[in-house]
Amino acid sequence: AQLLAHNTMRLSCQAMQLITLEQEAQVEPAIAKLKEGDAPLFVLSGGSNVILPKQLQAQVLHPVFKGIEVLAEDEHSVSLEVMGGENWHELVLYTVNNGWYGLENLALIPGLVGASPVQNIGAYGVQLEDCLTHIKAFHLPTQKWHDFDKADCQFNYRDSLFKQQAGQWLITRVGFKLHKDATQVNADYGDVACLALSLAQADNRSAIGPIDVMHAIIDIRQSKLPDPAVLPNCGSFFKNPIIGTEQFAQLQHEYPGIVGYRVDEAHTKVAAGWLIDTAGLKGQGINPILTHAKQALVLVNHSTLDSTTPASQADILATQQFIQRSIKDKFGIELEREPVWVDEQASYTAAP
Ligand code: EPU
Repeated sequence: AQLLAHNTMRLSCQAMQLITLEQEAQVEPAIAKLKEGDAPLFVLSGGSNVILPKQLQAQVLHPVFKGIEVLAEDEHSVSLEVMGGENWHELVLYTVNNGWYGLENLALIPGLVGASPVQNIGAYGVQLEDCLTHIKAFHLPTQKWHDFDKADCQFNYRDSLFKQQAGQWLITRVGFKLHKDATQVNADYGDVACLALSLAQADNRSAIGPIDVMHAIIDIRQSKLPDPAVLPNCGSFFKNPIIGTEQFAQLQHEYPGIVGYRVDEAHTKVAAGWLIDTAGLKGQGINPILTHAKQALVLVNHSTLDSTTPASQADILATQQFIQRSIKDKFGIELEREPVWVDEQASYTAAP
């Protein structure tokens, strides 16, 4: 099976087999059957945060099961359980339109619900873990079901147990607790509050609500993040590095415009996009993989669909290492790749 259309970086990837799972009940029998062969299993969700190899010696499981169930509801909140194959952004729209709030800052993130916990998706001051309650997942190596409470998931900035143990888990259900207070918003990030207010005012309201925040964030994202359908990409390519407060102070002395957020007394998180941009690398890289002209933290694939040589992992690696070297030389900071790197044996351990 060719996975070109199944990954937003639009890398050509030839896999042994693509098995679409329409129902959660198919998971166990399908895997039990496959286990008789010896090819490794690989779970592909929305394909929006993976870097795939040209040849993938694996059987690919593609869960698409749908469904949203209300588990409990009162006047203040609602508890939901969502199947892993639901589209993330459609879930955000659905919940906000129902008056259930908490996910509005995570609007327009590509991908499916089942993959959202893997990198603990986050944007504009909110991370998935803020609203998540539980997860149901199938452990591929032992073929056993597990129920996780939030505390078991080891969530961190762009990290979780499922990312640490990449390849081992098929997440089938994600639980959320959302609130119903339309006055409670998180609009502290960048221009969000300002833009949300102008949207509310245009609608003759003087205070902002979650819907305004959601529309402000949709506008911001559309103005600087490339649409994967037009310019293939997998979102931020590097994590924002966390450095010592002293090192940050030294850099700030030399570069007064540097953007950083305090993590704790001893640590500061630096905007990697600012570092790459300030190093003069916006829109740069090694063809056909270049940093995006409006957001330097995103790598985009400029190879065209009809190209005889589609972009490959090797092309991504060339640009990745070029940027890592340049940032290390200029600022003394190591950038760490954010999306998941998969090798030909569907293993994640030896990622460059
Ligand atoms: N900046 C520049 N030049 C650039 C890019 C950014 O100067 O080319 C500056 C911006 O002006 C801003 C700061 O860097 O002052 C931060 O930029 P931005 O708000 O665009 O966010 P980011 O730190 O680059 C992170 C997430 C994004 C998320 C945004 C908004 C990571 C790795 N990335 O990006 O997540 O949407 O914040 O919350 O944490 C993703 O993970 O795929 C992703 C897109």
